[in-house]
Amino acid sequence: MEIIRTIEEMRRAVRKEKSRGRTVGLVPTMGYLHEGHLSLVRLARSEAAVSVVSLFVNPIQFGPKEDLKSYPRDFDRDAAMLRNAKADFLFAPSDEEMYPREHRTFVEVHDLQDRLCGRTRPGHFRGVCTVVLKLFEAIEPDCAVFGQKDAQQVLILRRMVADLNVPVRLIVAPIVREPDGLAMSSRNTYLDAAERKAALVLSQSLAEARALVGAGGRDAAAVLQAIRTLIEAEPRARIDYIEAVDPENLNPVAELRDGTLIALAVFIGRTRLIDNMIV
Ligand code: PAJ
Repeated sequence: MEIIRTIEEMRRAVRKEKSRGRTVGLVPTMGYLHEGHLSLVRLARSEAAVSVVSLFVNPIQFGPKEDLKSYPRDFDRDAAMLRNAKADFLFAPSDEEMYPREHRTFVEVHDLQDRLCGRTRPGHFRGVCTVVLKLFEAIEPDCAVFGQKDAQQVLILRRMVADLNVPVRLIVAPIVREPDGLAMSSRNTYLDAAERKAALVLSQSLAEARALVGAGGRDAAAVLQAIRTLIEAEPRARIDYIEAVDPENLNPVAELRDGTLIALAVFIGRTRLIDNMIV
């Protein structure tokens, strides 16, 4: 695996691969990798001849009071995991490389960026779209893999790619969970032992929702209330949002249909966790 730090070198490396007729798959990450990230790398490897993993803790997608400073980082561990997973390139640019002092251009996907997580995290998706488009321009991948864990991120990036005619095929990978059901996340490392247990309410309440839907429940309000009741019973949990939305426009729905996204964000102590399911 080759480690690359600059956009110019990255572009040169990818162009060389492409000139030999190889397709390129990109997996954008912020590092502190776990099995969820590695499942994306495996998918990229199966979809393209050459895999590039980017590792960049993107400062502009964090709010002023969010965890940019404390976001977990361990470059050597990440690089070793990627070498093991047989990634071909690790692109790890510096902040200055991605955002030189004179940088002034940002990408916004209107409306969709203000829903769900966008309400609690204003500017978050503007930061995500900007960095992902910059990565697409630097690497020029044929395809890019994202996780269903961040369902709104996927929907917004799909919109961006369509609206701006970006020639990258987006591939979505299923949510990878811990054996007890907790969706894997780099932020799970913030949880102490009691919070780690409490965090199970996210996946457990979604499992309950799945059971209700499986038994024919179609009333969104009733299913959301069942989720809410379970989460409110956990003293360490504070609900940010629980919503059932149309995946096209993220508008709330009254009736659950195939494809409806049930998404939630919950604070466990000071850690904000997200999870979701598709009906
Ligand atoms: P990060 O949180 O590091 O996640 C990188 C990718 O891994 C995202 O596509 C995310 O959805 C996926 N992922 C995370 N946890 C997962 C899990 N448990 N199962 C499956 N996939 C999972 O998302 C970001 O970084 C950033 O916003 C980024 C796209 C890199 C832009 O900065």
